[in-house]
Amino acid sequence: MTLRLVVADPHAAGELAADEIEAYVTQEEFSGRDAVLGFATGSTPLPVYAALARRELSLSYVRGFALDEYVGLPQGHPQSYASVILCEAVEPLGLDPARVLVPNGAAHDPAAAGAEFERAIEDAGGIDVQLLGIGSNGHLAFNEPGSSFDSLTRVVELTAETRLDNSRYFDSLDDVPTHAITQGLGTIMRARSLVLLAFGERKAAALAAALEGPVSEDMPASIVQRHPRVLVLADEAAASLLRRETVERGRRSSLRPS
Ligand code: GLP
Repeated sequence: MTLRLVVADPHAAGELAADEIEAYVTQEEFSGRDAVLGFATGSTPLPVYAALARRELSLSYVRGFALDEYVGLPQGHPQSYASVILCEAVEPLGLDPARVLVPNGAAHDPAAAGAEFERAIEDAGGIDVQLLGIGSNGHLAFNEPGSSFDSLTRVVELTAETRLDNSRYFDSLDDVPTHAITQGLGTIMRARSLVLLAFGERKAAALAAALEGPVSEDMPASIVQRHPRVLVLADEAAASLLRRETVERGRRSSLRPS
């Protein structure tokens, strides 16, 4: 793993992630093909979208794929990830909504919708930069503990912990869907560059286990240790349980161009 770890407040982390995305998608190689961004939901990536929007980049050649979507919310539901990504990323960044795909959680056959989404990523040539948050139980996207490292986009059942964490966006816990379509850990690992963001004390234990613990399917986010290009952006609170050597090593590698 080329781990670059920077401890910064969420605003500064948003700028650094935007730098990574901008540097990546403005490379020469994208003059002939689309750049493909992987969008994440939750509160964590919001400073990144805000930073990108402030830059007023011309992103007409950018395509996007979301990490995941709840199963069973009607199309247009305000808490569907399709609605959240439209409001928080697609519109502020001036992207073409038709070029940003979210798994269809309202599909009659969600399993088929998952497989179709996986094929669409492949057909686009794969994801260049994938944004990632981390669940308090170490999940990536909706890959809960125990998810196979080889998993692809599929329907999953959400854990009680994840439903409780995400209930803050719904009127009640009962309104939180029980299932989701998520990119698999295998899908995420195919992205050429990962940007993992973690803010707040609630993420500290999961971040330490992900970066310093054994690489294990019990801790889905630990798979990032096997990725060749990972930028981790954490604030002080989320980095508070990391060993000093990890922070120092990450800081030194973040000073080298990757
Ligand atoms: C959801 C999403 C994840 C996200 C997580 C953390 O479960 N499926 O992709 O990382 O929430 O959310 P937040 O960033 O709001 O803490």
